[in-house]
Amino acid sequence: MANVDLMERAAVEPETIPFNRASIEGAELDYMRATLESGHTSSSGVFAKRVGAALQEESGAEEVLLTTSCTSALELSAMLLDLQPGDTVVVPSFTFTTTALAFVRQGARIVFCDIEPRTLGLHPEHLATLLDESVRAVVPVHYAGVACDIDGIRSVLADRPDVAVIEDNAHGLFGRWRDQPLGSFGRFSTLSFHETKNFVCGEGGALLLNEARDVDRARVLYDKGTNRRAFHLGQVDKYSWKDTGSSFGLSDTLAAYLWAQLEQRTQIQAKRRALFETYATALEPHAERLGLRLPVVPDGAEAAYHMFYVLVRDQATRDAVLQGMRAEGVQPTFHYVPLHSSEAGRRFSARSTPCPVTDDVSGRLLRLPFYNNLPPDDAQRVIDTFLRALDAAESH
Ligand SMILES: Cc1ncc(COP(=O)(O)O)c(C=O)c1O
Repeated sequence: MANVDLMERAAVEPETIPFNRASIEGAELDYMRATLESGHTSSSGVFAKRVGAALQEESGAEEVLLTTSCTSALELSAMLLDLQPGDTVVVPSFTFTTTALAFVRQGARIVFCDIEPRTLGLHPEHLATLLDESVRAVVPVHYAGVACDIDGIRSVLADRPDVAVIEDNAHGLFGRWRDQPLGSFGRFSTLSFHETKNFVCGEGGALLLNEARDVDRARVLYDKGTNRRAFHLGQVDKYSWKDTGSSFGLSDTLAAYLWAQLEQRTQIQAKRRALFETYATALEPHAERLGLRLPVVPDGAEAAYHMFYVLVRDQATRDAVLQGMRAEGVQPTFHYVPLHSSEAGRRFSARSTPCPVTDDVSGRLLRLPFYNNLPPDDAQRVIDTFLRALDAAESH
């Protein structure tokens, strides 16, 4: 009897719409199988070369090193900075933990910077007040794949050529600013191919080196502190231990997965753009009445369509909407919890810095389900559920 009840309920209750669902987009299974059959499943194989060449062509980088995650790419960039005791790194408070943690692991202390309310990227005016002699690097994030205020940050850093810019571009592959690819503005930039991103391989990432002077040393640190790469390129007749480093390389089986995804770049980005526009068009007419702030793509920016977020009136409304939608089988989610006031953020920061926009945005932000193959009917259900939950929260 209980089973019959369950079956009847399943027949009437629509399936849950998850927040994210990674998909097979092309030849993933064939390519991964090819690596297993060839026997080359470690790093720097044929698929890694294809991915590296494609990313290099897109970005104009001097070198692309495929890594096990965006986190490890950030760690490798931190190693390349040779941080000394007393050095600090400026990081937005509104980001993922490892944007800061990667530099903490190399001995730096963090100075948390607020975000500006339009792009939710690093706030140039706040940055200007944080730049003392201890600052060695600044790590802007292109939140949701939309360029942060690159011109503003550049002008604040104009007389500090000693400060390295490391773009955490986990969200922004194929996004652009004034026709230049995101990730091409800093000395380094990092990418993520985690299963929640536009292009996935389970866990993966890349470090892009935009300056030729970093290439030789980065290859050594990448390859467990050895000059094995120079050996493979025929530049030396044996390889040995040369420097610090770690094991950063991405398995070629995962690079094969990623290559199949990148081959479908145009289709994937078109699907994500269409979903973004569906949400934006449907919600725009309700924005004023419901106190909604939709994503802003500034003039000059081309979005990477990584996510669709909204800002509602206040945290109580956001939490009520999350709960209301979940009760109807739709899974939106919040995003970063401010780092500057977190337990580890307080422990590892150089000093306390106020980040009021981060505090405000973090409490009001909600992300709608967003993935390549979200069917149009489900997108409509997300929109209807969201508006119903927001209406209910607003009328309380
Ligand atoms: C801005 C940002 N940087 C870094 C990361 C870490 O990426 P990964 O999971 O590839 O290490 C994330 C994770 O989503 C992120 O949002």
